[in-house]
Amino acid sequence: MASLVINGGRRLNGSLVAQGSKNSALPILAATYLVNGKSIIHNCPRLSDVECTIKILENLGCKTERRGTDLIVDSTSASGHEIPESLMREMRSSVVFLGAILGRAKKAKISTPGGCEIGLRPIDLHLFAMRKLGVEIEESYGKLLCTIPQNLKGTKITLTFPSVGATENAVLLASVARGTTTIINAAREPEIIDLCNFLNKCGAKISGAGESVIVIEGVEKLEATEHSVICDRIAAATYLFAGAITGGDIALKNTVPQHLNSILPVLEETGCEISIKCNEIRLKAPLKLRRIDKLITQPYPGFPTDAQAPIMTLTAIAEGTSVIVENIFESRFKHVPELLRMGAKIRTEGRVAVIDGVKRLYGASVVSPDLRGGSALVLAGLVAHGTTEVGSLKHIDRGYENFENNLCMLNADIIRME
Ligand code: UD1
Repeated sequence: MASLVINGGRRLNGSLVAQGSKNSALPILAATYLVNGKSIIHNCPRLSDVECTIKILENLGCKTERRGTDLIVDSTSASGHEIPESLMREMRSSVVFLGAILGRAKKAKISTPGGCEIGLRPIDLHLFAMRKLGVEIEESYGKLLCTIPQNLKGTKITLTFPSVGATENAVLLASVARGTTTIINAAREPEIIDLCNFLNKCGAKISGAGESVIVIEGVEKLEATEHSVICDRIAAATYLFAGAITGGDIALKNTVPQHLNSILPVLEETGCEISIKCNEIRLKAPLKLRRIDKLITQPYPGFPTDAQAPIMTLTAIAEGTSVIVENIFESRFKHVPELLRMGAKIRTEGRVAVIDGVKRLYGASVVSPDLRGGSALVLAGLVAHGTTEVGSLKHIDRGYENFENNLCMLNADIIRME
């Protein structure tokens, strides 16, 4: 299995162009199945999760073509309604195809995605939203058989939690339902706005994206268009953390700085100097990072759960004691035992982690437990004394494009071993 071998102790400097957002690209690619014709998606990152999405699109009958960071999806003659279990299991977020398939094929057969590394991840809110719009769902032995006995009808959908995926599925299906749908307590993430911008360009009538009430006037037809995916705020944050932990000075180009509004102040709290010029974020790190008082993960615009693991590595070598509370997923501290192997001092109790900063971390052989946990370990390797080997790279490859090459361009010493 592939691993990254990192020789720690090098200060990062230089500049990088931020990658396109994984969490925007996936629902937008699902949406290309809902719309008719040839969609051209620019700034589409090259990631294994995107590869899996392409496999699903092809399985449904779409033609796809990669041209650099552009992805062309032609849905003209596609009519599939089924996602094989193997693909559903490969990527949990394949569930976001449900709304798109139902909107196009008026029926769907998928399997429940099940739990994953970071927790149970139920899909009750997705199914609730589908049912409210008129979908009948038969659940048996992990399979979901969905049909639309009468027409899809606009309705009021009140989510008990602002789930990103459930909001996306509701938006996708409501876009082609008859009448008006109002989603109350919708997720407000920038990726929701990006999806709605894409759909609106295709002819949808969606307003309120980015707020907690989204109103959708259903339309009969959506026509394919061109769209450029927004910058990946989590990948951007990870590179800033890499600059911070190594005492570096780095600049990230092509970002949307306001999407990092909950992250940049935390970096400043650790003593980093942040400056923003148009879409470029520059970070200059202090010699020694300071502790973070108390950090709580929350739905957007709060601090993102996806940045929790990598920022914990910063607190592991910061001066003093930091507290991190994980509020979104129940099993998202799996990087902690691996950080302990590298000399970190972290105690966890339920959703709370207390981190006593140590003077140094030491290179060790560790295993990436999940996508963001993996990036946390790479950050630890960048600053550790000696050599760190991070195994189980399949997780990291799901979300970071060219991760080790980008870090090496910033002066890191990393080799990928196959
Ligand atoms: C998306 C992101 C993921 C991020 C997460 C939270 C994508 C592809 N993934 O995941 O990177 O960590 O948002 O910002 O965009 N829940 C339920 N029932 C449901 C749906 C969700 O109980 O039907 C719970 C989940 O178990 C979790 C919480 O709600 O505890 C948040 O999940 P959700 O916002 O749906 O995350 P995802 O869309 O899966």
